[in-house]
Amino acid sequence: QQGERTRLVEAHKIAARFYAEQLDGPEAEIGRRFLAERGFDQASAQHFGVGYAPAGWDHLVRYLRGQGFSDKELTLSGLAQEARNGRPIDRFRGRLMWPIRDITGDVVGFGARKLREDDQGPKYLNTPETPIYRKSQVLYGIDLAKREIAKANRAVVVEGYTDVMACHLAGVTTAIATCGTAFGGEHVKILRRVLMDNSQSEVVFTFDGDAAGQKAALRAFEDDQKFAARTSIAITPGGMDPCDLRLAEGDDAVSKVVESRAPLFRFAMQSIVDRHNLDTAGGRSAALEEAAPVIAQIKDGGVQHESAVELAGLLGIVDEQFVVRRVGKLARWA
Ligand code: GTP
Ligand code: MN
Ligand code: MN
Ligand code: MN
Ligand code: MN
Repeated sequence: QQGERTRLVEAHKIAARFYAEQLDGPEAEIGRRFLAERGFDQASAQHFGVGYAPAGWDHLVRYLRGQGFSDKELTLSGLAQEARNGRPIDRFRGRLMWPIRDITGDVVGFGARKLREDDQGPKYLNTPETPIYRKSQVLYGIDLAKREIAKANRAVVVEGYTDVMACHLAGVTTAIATCGTAFGGEHVKILRRVLMDNSQSEVVFTFDGDAAGQKAALRAFEDDQKFAARTSIAITPGGMDPCDLRLAEGDDAVSKVVESRAPLFRFAMQSIVDRHNLDTAGGRSAALEEAAPVIAQIKDGGVQHESAVELAGLLGIVDEQFVVRRVGKLARWA
C-alpha cells in the first residue's frame, strides 16, 4: 500500500530529526564522546544524520503521537514496541542512532548502538522487519554512495556503520554496509542496478580479516559465480576495521587497503595455500586437492582454465597441465 509506506517513511523522517536534535542535549554527552573517540566530529555526524535516542520509555512515542501518528502506526513502523500492558514504548532507548536510508534517500530504519557496557540488549539493535524495512535488502550508505559507485563502477562493502562513515571521510566514497546481516543475493540485485553491467564492474569486500568476514565473502562465491568473478577482498591489517584503521593511521591507510585488494578467487586460493607446507610434495598435493574443487565450481570455462594455471603457479607445480586436468576432471564430475 502506497499510503502505508508514505506514513511509515514520514514517521521515520520525523524520528531521525528528533534523534539528531537529542544529540545536542546534556544526556547525549556519552554519545558525542563515543563519536569523538572514533574520529567523527560534529560535521561528520551531521552529514550521516547520527542522533541519540533518549533513555526514557516513551519520548519518541509521545512526540510522534503529537504529530498525529496512531499507536498502531508506531508499532507497525518498528520505532515503538508493545510493552507487556499492550501500550507502545520506544524501541530504541539510550542509544546512538544511525538512520538507514534506502537508495532514494528515504529513512526506512535505524541502527542503534548501546553506549554503556552494562546496558541491556545487544551491542547493535536494528529496526525489525517492517513493511518498509527488510534487512536482506538494505545497504547502509547506498543513498550517499550510489553516484560514486556508478561512476567508479565499483562498490566497497564494509561491515559497520562506523566503517562506512570512516571510509567516506577518508575519500572512499563508494563504501556501503549491510545492517546486522550477511551480504546476500538480495544485496547483489540492488548493487547490480547501480553498477554498470559489464566485465569491469567490481565489488570489494573490506573486512577486518576475522573468520566471519572471510566466510561471508567466500559464500558470495558459491551463491553467484558471475558476481564472484568480479569480487575482490581487502583485509585490514592487525584485525582493525576501517574505522579503527583511519583512527590509528589516517585517511590514506584506508584507501590503501582498498587498493591492495585481491580477487576473491586468489584470496580463496591463498588461504588454502597458507595452510599447507608447499616445500613437500605431500603438502603441495594436499593443497591441490583442497583448492581444485573450488576452481572446478567456476562455470566459465576460460576463467576456470586461467584459474587452474594460476593455482599451479601458487603451488609451485611446474606441470600446469597436470593441475588443469585435475580441475577439469572434478568439474565434469561436479
Ligand atoms: P564498534 O564496536 O563501535 O567499533 O562498532 P563496529 O561497527 O566496529 O561493530 P562490529 O564490528 O562489532 O559490527 C559491525 C556491524 O555488525 C555493526 O555495524 C552492526 O551492523 C553489526 N552488528 C554488530 N553487533 C551486532 C549485534 O549485536 N546485533 C546486530 N543486529 N548487529 C550487530
Ligand atoms: Mn567482524
Ligand atoms: Mn568493526
Ligand atoms: Mn567486530
Ligand atoms: Mn569498530
